[in-house]
Amino acid sequence: MNIIDIINKKRLNEELSSDEIQFVIDNFLNGTIKDYQMSSLLMAICINGMSDEETINLTNSMLKIGKTLDLSKIEGIKVDKHSTGGVGDKTTLIVGPLVASCGVKVAKMSGRGLGFTGGTIDKLESIPGFISNLSTTKFIEQVNKVGMVDSSANSQLAPADKKIYALRDVTGTTSSIPLIASSIMSKKLASGVDKIVIDLKVGNGALMKTLEDARKLARLMIKIGKIHGKEVVCILSNMNQPLGKMVGNSLEIKEAMETLVGKGPEDITNLSIIIASYMVSLGKNIKLNEALSLVRENLNNKNAYKKFLEFVSYQGGNINKLQIKSRKKVILSDKEGFVSKINTEKIGEASMLLGAGRKNIYDDIDYSVGLEIHKKIGDSVRIGEPLVTIYYNKNVTNIDEMIKSAYTLSDNIKEEPRLIYEILE
Ligand code: URA
Repeated sequence: MNIIDIINKKRLNEELSSDEIQFVIDNFLNGTIKDYQMSSLLMAICINGMSDEETINLTNSMLKIGKTLDLSKIEGIKVDKHSTGGVGDKTTLIVGPLVASCGVKVAKMSGRGLGFTGGTIDKLESIPGFISNLSTTKFIEQVNKVGMVDSSANSQLAPADKKIYALRDVTGTTSSIPLIASSIMSKKLASGVDKIVIDLKVGNGALMKTLEDARKLARLMIKIGKIHGKEVVCILSNMNQPLGKMVGNSLEIKEAMETLVGKGPEDITNLSIIIASYMVSLGKNIKLNEALSLVRENLNNKNAYKKFLEFVSYQGGNINKLQIKSRKKVILSDKEGFVSKINTEKIGEASMLLGAGRKNIYDDIDYSVGLEIHKKIGDSVRIGEPLVTIYYNKNVTNIDEMIKSAYTLSDNIKEEPRLIYEILE
């Protein structure tokens, strides 16, 4: 077998066999297939796509080459949650403690942010002392003691995804449905959980820009899950504006805590309740309505907030030392009207340029910086009113203009944006 023949086959839109796919994964991971060859194949896949069978084989090859976590020492059904990535998406920080406070074990592995999207591990690491790289023994011990853990992904699980994802990020091949499905599902299957809830973001701040593409991705991930005996639920949620008000690491930890005491923005509160309810329903094998009441009860009685504090402290974090050490600047609107559109990707990019995210994998993060969004879709804006507050420690050229240009104002109020489009299972 030879990589050039395989690249040519995909370039001509022919189907790859499972042996050819296995050959690619094995030899890319051991370094025989070079980055430039893999990039070329990834671009051919991006352009010509893959059949469901090819995607299933790709997922299986990526899964097989790494280890699978054995969670049998954790009692009960283990349910995981994954977000396909967005701006201001701090749902894991709220959903995890909510689900754990309802008595369902949360054995969570999260990732770091890259480009315009944030990552839960970066957010958690903004809490002084927080340890994110737990050993498997500690990971399991914590789930059994606290009911919840959130650790950075173990490098032995789905190692091919790590290497491929890094390449996709710098070769314009992130938004391919088969590549996303195999990336997410190989990781989730390797993490050893029983059931998976996926928050599949749709909109101008998400990988999936249209509902049609989001549905295709959801159906594919559900199919892959079924083949492996895992129930997968996909919640298609709106990413046409940042979620909540805060974008940036420490800022999002603060907002998550406010949400857990009932003082968070409506969108992030409601989305977290829905995701948590699906997880509790799957984890306890109870009806969704029952799960919803349980989730609401544990949010209102602050048990979920207490669980957040317990889990953070068990993982070494000192929440009292969380600091936002940055200067503030308010960006005022020079137009009036109603917000009809927000370029969410631009908002994410502005946050990254301020230092809250990474352009490249090895970039350092400034945990204290980010954005506070004052105006969201449907809000009325007058000239001179605050649009966004910037939390910054360095000057970024044209940042004011960049943020203002992310807003489109119109003369009338458009329909209230839907938080959730569809739920597929
Ligand atoms: N999240 C992932 O884990 N992988 C992708 O390819 C996209 C989103």
